[in-house]
Amino acid sequence: MMNYWAALSDRQRDVAQRPITALFDAETRAKAFSVTLETPATGPILFDYSKTNIDTETRDLLLDLARSCDVEGRRDAMFAGEKINETEDRAVLHTALRNLEGSVTVDGVDVMPEVRATLARMETFARDLRDGRIRGVGGRITDVVNIGIGGSDLGPAMAARALATYADGPRCHYVSNVDGAHIHDTLEALNPETTLVIVASKTFTTIETMTNAQTAKAWMSRAVAEPTRQFVALSTALDKTSAFGIDPARVFGFADWVGGRYSMWGPIGLSLMIAIGPEDFRAFLAGAAAMDQHFRDAPLVDNMPVMLAMVGVWHRQICGYGARAVLPYDQRLARLPAYLQQLEMESNGKSVAMDGSALTVPAGPIVFGEPGTNGQHAFYQLIHQGTDVVPCEFLLAGQGQEPAMAHQHRLLAANCLAQAEALMRGRSLDEARALMKAKGLKGKELERQALHRVFPGNRPSTLLVYPRLTPAMLGAIVALYEHRVFVEGVVLGINSFDQWGVELGKELAVQLLPMIDGTASTEGRDGSTAALVAALRELGI
Ligand code: F6P
Repeated sequence: MMNYWAALSDRQRDVAQRPITALFDAETRAKAFSVTLETPATGPILFDYSKTNIDTETRDLLLDLARSCDVEGRRDAMFAGEKINETEDRAVLHTALRNLEGSVTVDGVDVMPEVRATLARMETFARDLRDGRIRGVGGRITDVVNIGIGGSDLGPAMAARALATYADGPRCHYVSNVDGAHIHDTLEALNPETTLVIVASKTFTTIETMTNAQTAKAWMSRAVAEPTRQFVALSTALDKTSAFGIDPARVFGFADWVGGRYSMWGPIGLSLMIAIGPEDFRAFLAGAAAMDQHFRDAPLVDNMPVMLAMVGVWHRQICGYGARAVLPYDQRLARLPAYLQQLEMESNGKSVAMDGSALTVPAGPIVFGEPGTNGQHAFYQLIHQGTDVVPCEFLLAGQGQEPAMAHQHRLLAANCLAQAEALMRGRSLDEARALMKAKGLKGKELERQALHRVFPGNRPSTLLVYPRLTPAMLGAIVALYEHRVFVEGVVLGINSFDQWGVELGKELAVQLLPMIDGTASTEGRDGSTAALVAALRELGI
């Protein structure tokens, strides 16, 4: 069989010096190197990857690589409930939480009746809370505090912010960090008599979440005789939620085939449902389901998640770019980069293939970002003129969420397109010299100043354009990225659904706590850690 990795590396060497702008000599490039998708739930979505160095030959090779890795077969196995999470012997079925018709079988059991029943329970609870039928001891619930971390926080926190214009229920707050400042600053402003606490933890053992949950319980108990009556749990560990004292009627369970960072479509999304209401939450699910359908049906070249993934493979594994920036020109997507950091880096930040062999190509990239235009005034300098190439993934809505300020949205859009254009075009030394000349500089000073104003250009970017950030659109965007991560993982041959890399630090923290407390000796620790424990104890920790 042909070695597509080698063929792609050869191709990369051949085209490395070619300006991306030269590719636009073909008038059709903008259309030919983009994917459009129109669904009733979302309206038209455009993924434009024409401002990359990918041409027809490269794209054909990338798609051959995807086919040779059986992306389509693995995709169908995931949707069918096969145990593709091999290191944990689990199915991967977050898609079942949003494709609510039909049946999906795991271990011989159709899981869909349970999914639909849990969603119905969540909806009844959310309605009762929003309408004031479920109350605190002080009356109507005004505030909801979601305590969780990682996938039990980032998804609903990101989505609640993204859909703030749709929020018409109780205010939702998110506490994740074990740093007491986080829960202190959140609870300080709240009235325990009218607050509901959601403890969101798949395992119900995560130390940050359980510590914060105990703190919240103590806070609540100062004003509420039976504090856990104003608690809800979202978890797969029903025995542990009972031990915490939460009434089983207030527990929303889910199965182990929902990965933490893929979990906001089910019970972990309860706070979002409370904020925006069950109808808009259904629209959020429908948008994701529309993207699922597209992912399952579209030919690879017209398949948005597949092309987003293969552009990522080109940049990371073939061109060797170590990072990628996610740049939403949409302020309410401010937490999307943080959300994607977990989704992408926890899923694909691995160096061992599914069969235990070492990866022979780099694993997933470092993902970072900020909303435009804020990032422009922070790290874009490096992206434009630094020595590393950082592929940029821009996101932009056709219409902003504040129609009364359409002029600001147009300015935002102009900035987004300008950044992508500047990255691609750059500015030559001659152009920089002309600029300096126009400013009246001459001779050596002109030359010196001009050099600082050169932009190398030829830096790749993609753009996702969507009509407006509605619940359905957000669902589609998140599902798009989930499937992108899946495809990249399949191409790398890794298991995107485990996260063993977070375990060691957790274990060592448990060992170190008594040493920091002073109840255990640091004998046997490495010299650095022992000295730092001593220094902290000197400081009176
Ligand atoms: O960071 C590791 C991790 O296991 C994530 O995968 C998960 O989202 C997070 O911790 C929280 O886990 P839990 O929901 O079990 O508290």
